[in-house]
Amino acid sequence: MSEIRVLSVASEVYPLIKTGGLADVAGALPAALAVEGVLVRTLIPGYPAVIAACNETEVVYEFADLFGGSARLLAARAGALDLFVLDAPHLFDRPGNPYLAPNGRDWPDNAIRFAALARVGALVAKGLVPGFSPDIVHLHDWQAALTPVYLRYDGGPRPGCVMTIHNIAYQGQFGADLLPRLGLPPEAYGVDGIEYYGTIGYLKGGLQFADRITTVSPTYAEEICTPEFGMGLDGLLRSRANVLSGILNGIDEAMWDPSRDTQIASTFSRSRLDIRLLNRLALQRKLGMAMDSKSLLLGVVSRLTWQKGLDMLHAALPTFLQRDVQLALLGAGDQELESAYRELAARFPGRVGCYIGYDESLAHLVQAGCDALVVPSRFEPCGLTQLYALRYGALPIVARVGGLADTVIDANEMALASHAGTGIQFSPPTSERLTGALRRALALFAHKPTWKSLQLNAMAADVSWRRPAQRYAALYRDLISTR
Ligand code: ADP
Ligand code: GLC
Repeated sequence: MSEIRVLSVASEVYPLIKTGGLADVAGALPAALAVEGVLVRTLIPGYPAVIAACNETEVVYEFADLFGGSARLLAARAGALDLFVLDAPHLFDRPGNPYLAPNGRDWPDNAIRFAALARVGALVAKGLVPGFSPDIVHLHDWQAALTPVYLRYDGGPRPGCVMTIHNIAYQGQFGADLLPRLGLPPEAYGVDGIEYYGTIGYLKGGLQFADRITTVSPTYAEEICTPEFGMGLDGLLRSRANVLSGILNGIDEAMWDPSRDTQIASTFSRSRLDIRLLNRLALQRKLGMAMDSKSLLLGVVSRLTWQKGLDMLHAALPTFLQRDVQLALLGAGDQELESAYRELAARFPGRVGCYIGYDESLAHLVQAGCDALVVPSRFEPCGLTQLYALRYGALPIVARVGGLADTVIDANEMALASHAGTGIQFSPPTSERLTGALRRALALFAHKPTWKSLQLNAMAADVSWRRPAQRYAALYRDLISTR
């Protein structure tokens, strides 16, 4: 089979810059796709952290004026990643979080920053860089979503466009007065263009013009076609259901492997599960918790937002914390949730350990040290932390939504009888049902052989990128063959 060349456009890519799972996916997929004969180059904004990580840098294009300033397009490498970096200091030379200003709010010019990324994505797609003409452009989330819009209104031949929705809650919606600044013709502002309930919708435009739409789990692909989960885009998605599909995420097995993870206290494997105890102790020590070896140690690694349902966990926990359960939480986000968990830690000293902030190494230790990872999301396109948990033998306790429904096998009676269970699911996502799930977890945990067999199932589950990469490659080939 011939090779396929893909231009991937993403606003974050691990290990260069990360706020969540999008970076993990954009960072790991290229290597997985290479095995399938797909060569990926990723276009990413030149934030300071990205520029600093690049080597073999070469200027391949210079823009005298890109949305109000001069800019350069760099070809570069960072580790195994082949990159195009948009070095536009007036837009991206800002340290820290890629979307938020130091005051915690969106940068006021985010509409322009990510229009510029998409504008350049469209130009590169159409051959701006000599010697690089992709067969497919793969756009990730709203930050890249204007690319198919520019391609549509520029006219002429263009590569196939695949638009992936990682989270429909973030749509890139801006005032209609932005239109003249985008460099799009007036007719772009229409119901069959970027117009969205009287505003401009970046994701809406991308979904309108992409040739294929994917999201990151089959269940979420169905959910977003309903008013409950579609966040206003369900009608458009229903009308495009023939090109919409769900492809699960995988995990980067080089980064997330308990048998060679350098960021945990002691490496372990299915045959040496007993060693997990050392990680448990290290985690308890690190978070100032009691060195209790009997309680069910729950873990959380999460953005603290409404999506993640951690208010429900906060409501459900107190009855358990007195004796049976401990909690190790790593998270950052909404101030209210941050304070609520700080207060919980103060109320239950030794029982609750919190690290409010972002810490990649600690995320590994939580997975290696906790007994069960709680993910009570109200919606979850795919979720990666439950996949890491499976690999690390931390049984996921998850709400049965989106990718959580597709990746965890509930340890019900039948699953126990057939040795298939890998975790616990509950539905609907309420604190009452979560309480029930925690009770079930405690009952299973009390019977050590059962718990251990669930851990062994979980660790054996295939959560690699192998199958997802095959699906993306098949999708690309199908799209190329139909054009
Ligand atoms: P989302 O992208 O919605 O935040 P995912 O589960 O897909 O959810 O991905 C979250 C990623 O971010 C995982 O790699 C997880 O380990 C990481 N993560 C989330 N919060 C933190 C944190 N406070 N510190 C370190 N890593 C975090
Ligand atoms: C989003 C979703 C998460 C998904 C990630 C990567 O951030 O919230 O569920 O795993 O993207 O696709």
